[in-house]
Amino acid sequence: MRKLTPELLDHLPHDDPGALRSRADLRRINFFMGNERWIASVIPENTHYITEIGAGDGHLLARLAGKFPQAEITAYDLAPRPAHLPLSVKWIQGDLFAQASPTHGGTLIANLFLHHFTDPKLRVLGEWMRGFDTLLINEPLRARLPVLLGKLAAPFIHPITRHDMRVSIEAGFQRRELPAALGLDHLVQESVSWRGSLRIFAQRTNQSANLCSIS
Ligand SMILES: C[S@@+](CC[C@H](N)C(=O)[O-])C[C@H]1O[C@@H](n2cnc3c(N)ncnc32)[C@H](O)[C@@H]1O
Repeated sequence: MRKLTPELLDHLPHDDPGALRSRADLRRINFFMGNERWIASVIPENTHYITEIGAGDGHLLARLAGKFPQAEITAYDLAPRPAHLPLSVKWIQGDLFAQASPTHGGTLIANLFLHHFTDPKLRVLGEWMRGFDTLLINEPLRARLPVLLGKLAAPFIHPITRHDMRVSIEAGFQRRELPAALGLDHLVQESVSWRGSLRIFAQRTNQSANLCSIS
């Protein structure tokens, strides 16, 4: 069963020194888990729109702006626009649940974001995602090995990260839970990695595209 506990990073000012250290840890954790490499490698080459929800410090989108110069890139996060972000990336600050979903489709990315939310909120997010052609979701795998890896990493990470990593894994997912919680009607491929990621590559089927254009 998922256990949701508030994450410390979400309740600190964005420029708090501990928050800055924890975000730097998060970049290293993403690197170790291979999350951004996986996302960058599966984005359809010809995508016109890339949207990331819970974009954090914008590290991934800055990288994608170089790799997909033809794409219009938009980020959503509670945090203010990161200073280093290329100007071509549009940044929308605020609660995602208060924002209308864009109608242009394209590729949607959620990296280490969805585990923050209860099942009823995930259902709302599933609706928000419905119009995107491709969904790339990477979340903590709720399993023993990631907990053990987190314990091994503990001496090297900030106490905020140590806390948030544990509660993120407890709030993470096992296979088949996320597509059901989101109510996805995309064609879903799910995979897990021993480094603690649960990954979803989902594509809108012709049938779901038709349903969207009717509704
Ligand atoms: C664990 S961080 C992951 C950030 C980034 N995806 C990464 O992997 O480094 C989760 C992010 O979700 C954002 N977030 C949490 N709740 C949100 C909400 N309701 N609306 C928009 N962003 C939110 C936080 O500000 C934070 O940057």
